[in-house]
Amino acid sequence: MNNNHWYKNAVFYQISVRAYKDSNGDGHGDLRGITEKLDYLQTLGVDCIWIMPIYPSPLKDDGYDIADYYSVDKAFGSLDDLKGLIRAAHEHDIRIVMDLVLNHTSDEHPWFVASRSDRNSPYRDYYVWSDTNQKYKDTRVIFLDTEPSNWTWDEKTGQYYWHRFYASQPDLNFDNPKVQEEMLNVARFWLDLGIDGFRADAVPYLIEREGTNCENLPETHAYLKKLRAFMEENYPGRILLCEANQWPEDVRPYFGDGDEFHMGFHFPIMPRIYMALKKGRYEDMEKIMRRTPSIPENCQWCTFLRNHDELTLEMVTEEERQWMWKQYAPEPRMKLNLGIRRRFAPLLDNNRRKMELANSILFTLPGSPIVYYGDEIGMGDNLDLFDRNGVRTPMQWDDSPNAGFSKGKPFSELVKGELSYQNVNVASQINGPGSFFNSVKRMIALRKQHPAFSGSNMEWLDAGNPAVAVYIREHEGETMLILNNLSDAAETVHIPAEQQTTYLDLFAGQNVAINDKITLQPYSYLWLVKK
Ligand code: NOJ
Repeated sequence: MNNNHWYKNAVFYQISVRAYKDSNGDGHGDLRGITEKLDYLQTLGVDCIWIMPIYPSPLKDDGYDIADYYSVDKAFGSLDDLKGLIRAAHEHDIRIVMDLVLNHTSDEHPWFVASRSDRNSPYRDYYVWSDTNQKYKDTRVIFLDTEPSNWTWDEKTGQYYWHRFYASQPDLNFDNPKVQEEMLNVARFWLDLGIDGFRADAVPYLIEREGTNCENLPETHAYLKKLRAFMEENYPGRILLCEANQWPEDVRPYFGDGDEFHMGFHFPIMPRIYMALKKGRYEDMEKIMRRTPSIPENCQWCTFLRNHDELTLEMVTEEERQWMWKQYAPEPRMKLNLGIRRRFAPLLDNNRRKMELANSILFTLPGSPIVYYGDEIGMGDNLDLFDRNGVRTPMQWDDSPNAGFSKGKPFSELVKGELSYQNVNVASQINGPGSFFNSVKRMIALRKQHPAFSGSNMEWLDAGNPAVAVYIREHEGETMLILNNLSDAAETVHIPAEQQTTYLDLFAGQNVAINDKITLQPYSYLWLVKK
């Protein structure tokens, strides 16, 4: 494979820097802390880490409200620490991508402070101002539980400003060429420092137009193509990962003709994995994968089970959303906006077999998988914490005070109860061959050894049983037959005649002759390589 296409078959790992590892005892995780944990990440088999925002910020949205695009918040360290982390990561064969937040800044960013100081400020036009709050009425509010409108009144200058997220995050005006230029400069700065690419935040919302829902507009794509062309020309091999929480057909244009994003998160498959696990049927997964358009050769999907936000239910129908809430958010406080603010292990009742099966699905679907920090050990969440903070608690390294995360007072309460660090931590799992960590590690290792996983194709087989997802992955001359039993009962499938042959069972390490029937134990899975 072209080395510049490394992302097509990479395993990603998402880190909340604040929550991962505190190296200096101030209670906040930091860049040096991540550097200390690179051996761990290498052991797990991670190829690339995504570090969440490290920019100076008033932290009204955990750093997605940026007050300065050109430095590192003191709590996380310094630019030198970042350089050190990048260098050390590369020595571990691990790449690093970071958040690039294009759509908005913090209201404390000097551009916005100037913009709101005076209607004649040269920065006025860096943001979106209006005399009325009636413009762009077809635009949904995303943070439904906290924001009544996308417009906020500014008393001093007597106009409204536009924001798709919290009112403390005014949207930049991408119709202004200066803003477009500023953000290319920001990208250049971090790329020059050695970062391997960006997870580009909230990209559907860059441009607003009357009479539209202000999402995915052609002018937005035009700017993103400029950003890509700039990277392609100056920094080949560095990537852009698209955060567009949209239907597959609406994400497809973000890949362009292979000239926009290298990667895009596949949002809609995620809730359907949880639906499938609860219903014991795979049909919702199959439908959405069939609805997923093919993408250019130099592009890849990024698949995930959880991330730092609520488990979003934006990409399901209203009926499905109600059903998901009923199944997975039995307590009202588990709901947030259009989603569920719980972590992976508690969502699956800390049921080992279900947790493994979900990972088997993640690691065998087309796309490069990303693991959210802590989910590889099945750590818990803390529902007492505000908004999404409950799924961003300190990493559970060991059972010493503060979970081995910090020698000081942690910035956040930790997880309590069954999934707390006393019960779930890295130290107790890393050497136990039967641990959940080691199951995940094994899947990652196997995935990386087999080229069949790096293609984008997937062929669903009808094996006569709605509870067992059976599909073929084929790439570079290798054919893999995957079976995932979603049911809590043993299930038998019939393998079509064309697929009946000898396979290597990757987990058993033995050849098996697959004839007509196979029976799978509850929630079990098989990864078979055709001989
Ligand atoms: C998406 C990020 O994932 C989320 O955490 C953030 O609040 C919004 N974008 C706004 O930046």
